[in-house]
Amino acid sequence: MVAPDEAALSAVDHGITVGDGVFETCAVLDGQAFALTRHLARLERSASGMGMARPDLQKVHDGVAAVLAAAPDAGRLRITVTDGVGPLGSGRSVGPQTVVVAASAAVVVPIGRAARSPWTRNERSAVAGLKTTSYAENVVALANAIKKGADESVFANTKGDLCEGTGSNVFIELDGELVTPPLSSGCLAGITRELLLEWGTEEGLPVREAKDGELPFSVLDQVAAGEARMLLTGSVRNVQPTVWLDGVDLPIGELSAAARDVFERFMRERLDP
Ligand SMILES: Cc1ncc(COP(=O)(O)O)c(C=O)c1O
Repeated sequence: MVAPDEAALSAVDHGITVGDGVFETCAVLDGQAFALTRHLARLERSASGMGMARPDLQKVHDGVAAVLAAAPDAGRLRITVTDGVGPLGSGRSVGPQTVVVAASAAVVVPIGRAARSPWTRNERSAVAGLKTTSYAENVVALANAIKKGADESVFANTKGDLCEGTGSNVFIELDGELVTPPLSSGCLAGITRELLLEWGTEEGLPVREAKDGELPFSVLDQVAAGEARMLLTGSVRNVQPTVWLDGVDLPIGELSAAARDVFERFMRERLDP
């Protein structure tokens, strides 16, 4: 256990040198990590997609237990696994992986403000759909959105379809349905997205994945024109209706509000769905 400003890993850890690592962020409810099993399954998928060795999940579980015991008021948990000490370039050496578990406070904001990103998500990237520590694109895009007065930046992919936010998935409320871009758009398979699709369906909400090409990025013009509504999903953000898009105030959609209610209720009832 170390303080956030205390050194705990090598200065040439390959996660630091080139972003060669994977991570997860979970919400923490009453001292317990939410949906940890799904998050760890995705951590393994991301590591496999990166060609990394399988993360040592026992080490992760031990770290989670120790950190949450030491930070009982935490609201978010971050699990990072990197390829460990490595060369100064992109080549890898075989060494023990680094596992870092960290916790911090979190404030859940029930509404969000979005800006369109001037950059695209590459759905054909080697790391599309993987939760890697190479997040510089997201850092730059989010800073751009914050400068515009938003708290999230939403990407198109290279085909011009709606994709995702820097740390969130997007749903559009249109023609009486809540529809989210398919994984083929290059978005991350968000745990919150997945749970909203499952729990919404269970509760009779018309919520589904779009077909490939069904949601062009220009659907955001319809959102700005008041012809459609929008919400973002993500761990800690939860299900968050969007009330502002690039300077335009937006009403909260009826289905979006219902989706938020279902998610918040089920989240409290089902800690590890
Ligand atoms: C790029 C990206 N998309 C979507 C999400 C939402 O995923 P989740 O609901 O699992 O937090 C995240 C989470 O941080 C993300 O980084």
